[in-house]
Amino acid sequence: MPQIAKGLEGVVAGTTALSFIDGRAGRLVYCGYDIHELARKSTFEEVCFLLWYGRLPNRSELDALRRELVTMRPLPGPVEELLRALPKTLDPLDALRTALSPLLAFDEGARDTSREANLRRAKWLTALTSTVIATFHRLRTAQKPVPPDPELPHAANFLYMLLGERPTPLAQRAMDAYFVLLADHGYNASTFTARVIASTLSDMVSAICGAIGALKGPLHGGAAQWTMEMLLEIGSLENVEPYIRRLFAEHKRVPGFGHRVYRTEDPRARVLRELSRRVGEETGGLLWHEMSERVDALVAQLRGDREIYPNVDFYSAPLLYNLGIPPDLMTCAFAASRVAGWTAHVLEQQADNRLYRPLSEYTGPMDLAYVPIEER
Ligand code: CMC
Repeated sequence: MPQIAKGLEGVVAGTTALSFIDGRAGRLVYCGYDIHELARKSTFEEVCFLLWYGRLPNRSELDALRRELVTMRPLPGPVEELLRALPKTLDPLDALRTALSPLLAFDEGARDTSREANLRRAKWLTALTSTVIATFHRLRTAQKPVPPDPELPHAANFLYMLLGERPTPLAQRAMDAYFVLLADHGYNASTFTARVIASTLSDMVSAICGAIGALKGPLHGGAAQWTMEMLLEIGSLENVEPYIRRLFAEHKRVPGFGHRVYRTEDPRARVLRELSRRVGEETGGLLWHEMSERVDALVAQLRGDREIYPNVDFYSAPLLYNLGIPPDLMTCAFAASRVAGWTAHVLEQQADNRLYRPLSEYTGPMDLAYVPIEER
């Protein structure tokens, strides 16, 4: 029997040309470009192009992609009706998954599975995800949905549709950098889910709906919400130390810390920490950032020789909160960015497909004699 790798730890399940992670050095690269350089100099639209086409666009290609995404932002009428019919108490990520499910019915070329058709779907899913999230959030909070603003870049438009006002230049920059930083990350749980679904030759929409389901859990995309709920529960700078000490004493996990791959600080956390501080200063919500820094320092003090460093979700929490995104919408913000990576991985899987079908070691009983129900 081959060796079992619980949680597939250390298993190389396939290849990808989309992102490279060096867990020891704390390095993340998209298609050859370091994430820090992309976060500083690039935009989400440009990163989408990079992931979908494997190279940076020239000016006219980038302009064309921007225009295409803008035209794809509005929801098909029945999808908005569906969102209106959903219970307002539904988790917004469940609403997103539900609203994306019927999309193929509105895709005239639904039977076309060529790369071109799937590339168009990748753009459509990426453009629509932000609109679905914002529309459901407006509806569940008894506010009128805000139509997309064609003048705004993708990430800024997401904030605009959520909050109903044009974000400040700093908020636009921070949201865009967040979208760049979260767009892709190797074979993480949700991306791997999407690839497994794609490997059966199922459709891209199903792959994205599956990925959303995998993202939801607190060990993956749900960690920013969990982090923010912790910060809100702690409530003040003085309470940080007793709270975190208690978590360690009770052998509980600190949300937003630890990672399967990184053995040092997640490279995205460094950029998000700085953005969180700047946005906190602008919005008057610096307390949440300062509490996060204190949690970070305490975990460093208490972790001993365990490699528990802040991951991408930790500073995402105060950053998104100060940008006006409530805790229960934070996993949706993650999805709004990661949909670019998910779709790129589906395209990559389809280009060189082999069905994912690992083995399992059977641990149940054998050779039981069937007993008729009357005799049990
Ligand atoms: N707080 C306290 N201790 C931790 C934490 C944490 N957040 N994470 C791991 N540990 C400890 C764990 O108790 C174990 O200690 P020991 O060896 O003494 O039992 C050791 O570190 C290794 O943990 P593990 O569970 O074997 O590690 P894993 O690779 O299976 O889990 C993880 C990775 C992300 C699920 C885990 O670190 C965790 O639960 N973190 C909190 C949730 C979180 O922030 N998730 C977001 C992950 S990154 C972004 C994303 O994917 O969305």
